Amino acid sequence: MSETGSQVPSADERREPEPDPAAAPGGEAGSKLRSEAVSERVRLRQLARLGALFAGFAHEIRNPLSTIRLNLQLVKEDLGEAQAELPPRIGRRLAVVETEVARLQAILEQFLGYVRVPRLQLRELDLNAMLLDIIEFTGPEVRAKGVAVRFFGAPELGPIRADPDQLRAVVVNLLRNALDACSDGDEILVRTRALPEGALVVVADTGCGMPPDVLERAFQPYFSTKKSGTGLGLPTVRRIVEQHGGSVAVDSEPGRGTQFTIRLPADGGGGGEEVGEADTGTGEEGA
Ligand SMILES: Nc1ncnc2c1ncn2[C@@H]1O[C@H](COP(=O)(O)OP(=O)(O)OP(=O)(O)O)[C@@H](O)[C@H]1O
Ligand SMILES: [Mg+2]
Repeated sequence: MSETGSQVPSADERREPEPDPAAAPGGEAGSKLRSEAVSERVRLRQLARLGALFAGFAHEIRNPLSTIRLNLQLVKEDLGEAQAELPPRIGRRLAVVETEVARLQAILEQFLGYVRVPRLQLRELDLNAMLLDIIEFTGPEVRAKGVAVRFFGAPELGPIRADPDQLRAVVVNLLRNALDACSDGDEILVRTRALPEGALVVVADTGCGMPPDVLERAFQPYFSTKKSGTGLGLPTVRRIVEQHGGSVAVDSEPGRGTQFTIRLPADGGGGGEEVGEADTGTGEEGA
């Protein structure tokens, strides 16, 4: 998690009333665009509040869990060699408790990674170079599965303002999903396109595709069809892209493949700056 804080609001911010779209200057209807921008800001703020609440809750559970794990280790140390003389079922039960505590800790960490929205660190970046770098990095894993990855970077694509770490997480999540969906002989295609207002990134695969019921729920937190999936990959992708003022679209057909299309504004988006303005306080200091 970034050390620079998160989108989680301060106590003062939590009391601040929501902006009223009807009170915006510019007449009764105002502009539709402005009211959409306001409701998007309100939605982001509400999400941040909910995130703060859940992050606080998870935090409270995390500390006693660590204590339980530590004490368990101490019990095992205390038992020392005497363990060998105990009935085997005691050792098995201790092992179950240990595994389950570790599992709960992992769930909490993943959850906290999702709900604590880091403040965007916007920088000018070369999207094509970043994508190429990620593709090269995942090369060995992809080749081991017999999958081909092709990249077409639009040469006319200029630099965009974005948070490199966050954007990297977006692409890695999409590539990982694509790879999971592919089998030997399949292909993943990554391409970019310059738009008047920014850039388009497409990650397409010829993998298994999604039936309509999966497609409908793919962005729901904790929805996963994988044995060891968290179901937080796509919600995180969407959260980061929207924080940059962009959007994610998906198109999928069972047996044919899936295509994710990400639109990013060149300036990092008003949403990102709005998020950055919020005073942050995750309570991490006391962890
Ligand atoms: N490229 C894809 N092809 C087919 N199905 C996909 C693709 N991307 C996502 N999905 C479906 O959407 C679900 C949710 O994806 P998401 O990334 O949120 O979680 P996950 O991949 O299951 O878990 P994790 O990201 O923790 O590994 C997946 O379980 C899968 O069913
Ligand atoms: Mg995933």
